[in-house]
Amino acid sequence: MNSLLVLNIGSLVTNDPGRGGLIGIVESGAVVIIDGFVAWVGPEVDVPAEYGDLPRLDAGGAAVLPGFVDPHTHLVFAGDRSDEFARRLRGESYEEILAAGGGILSTVEATRATPQDELYEASAERVWRMLANGTTTVEVKSGYGLDVATEEKMLRVARRLDESLPMDVVPTFLGAHVVPAEYREDRDAYVDLVCGEMLDACAPLARFCDVFSDEAAFTVDETRRILEAAKSRGLGIRIHADQLGRVGAADLAADLSADSADHLDHATEEDLASMKDAGTSAVLLPAVSFSMRLPYPDGRRVWDSGVTVALATDCNPGTANVESMLFVIALAALNMGLTPDEAVWAATRGSARSLNLEDRGHLTRGAVADLVILDAPTHLHIPYRPDSDLIAAVVKRGVIL
Ligand code: NIG
Ligand code: FE
Repeated sequence: MNSLLVLNIGSLVTNDPGRGGLIGIVESGAVVIIDGFVAWVGPEVDVPAEYGDLPRLDAGGAAVLPGFVDPHTHLVFAGDRSDEFARRLRGESYEEILAAGGGILSTVEATRATPQDELYEASAERVWRMLANGTTTVEVKSGYGLDVATEEKMLRVARRLDESLPMDVVPTFLGAHVVPAEYREDRDAYVDLVCGEMLDACAPLARFCDVFSDEAAFTVDETRRILEAAKSRGLGIRIHADQLGRVGAADLAADLSADSADHLDHATEEDLASMKDAGTSAVLLPAVSFSMRLPYPDGRRVWDSGVTVALATDCNPGTANVESMLFVIALAALNMGLTPDEAVWAATRGSARSLNLEDRGHLTRGAVADLVILDAPTHLHIPYRPDSDLIAAVVKRGVIL
């Protein structure tokens, strides 16, 4: 079980640096999967005879890629903000709506009021749609609770998604998403709560800690305090950095050796150089620019700075209600100056690296056997046919879904 011989692959993206080119394409390839891990990869004519009796999966001459890794989502949420979306299309700004108690705060209200089982059901539907779009690992943030009980509830939902569905879910604590309404007059008290009681309850349920560092959210000093507290509890660090303006958050990410700085719309060359030296990945979120009708971050500039580039949906009810990494790859190639090869690499290898997951995002011996078969001859069709249902099959840890 969990063992397969995947044959008749027209174009196999391995991301193996040993095979030449950025994404290590093997033509007429095959993949051998034993017990959920990749055991052998190469041209089909060279498949070792010992694997000849494995159950076979015929890719029909199509392209095969590593499963997509989505390293930045807020997919656990209750409620619906389509009204707010329509108001923004009529000209109101995201910041105005948030300052008036809407935006993130309205999702907080809905998420607090929703029982854990119901929150799980709504989130599971999103996870199934992500799987259907080829995502096999997803990061999930809390951050719509902003009180101890609801932050904990969100992280328990994330854990149950991981345990009950064929998706690997990486949980991130985002208690510092915004200052909740009841602490508006005393934000220091909220930062104290996050650094103390909330981290005590949530750190054991999370792998990373994230902070939304922005004029509308937390200052760089507050962000540092919270992330240092998280680091001392063994969590990895991510930051929503320099999204709406340059506040110095990307620089802070480098200073703290964060695993990732995300958004980065306003990051400078110096910020990127510091991130590169610190080994901090850049997670770019073109679906936010698309949904918010904002200029796209310059992916070309970020890539050329030498930092590891990752792509993510940012799936959330406010700034990008998007679930498909295929769509994100298409946006990155069409609007951010990345080549299709770079965009595919960033959505697989780069994304996995930003989550500190070395065992996936590539198809090489020993990797987790997560892969997608496209209904297309090559990965170029992802941006070339951006509105097509391009997923023919998804294999998660060697099991065909
Ligand atoms: O990544 N920037 C802050 N957080 C989310 C938006 C969350 C929301 O609007 O609900 C983001 O864009
Ligand atoms: Fe986000």
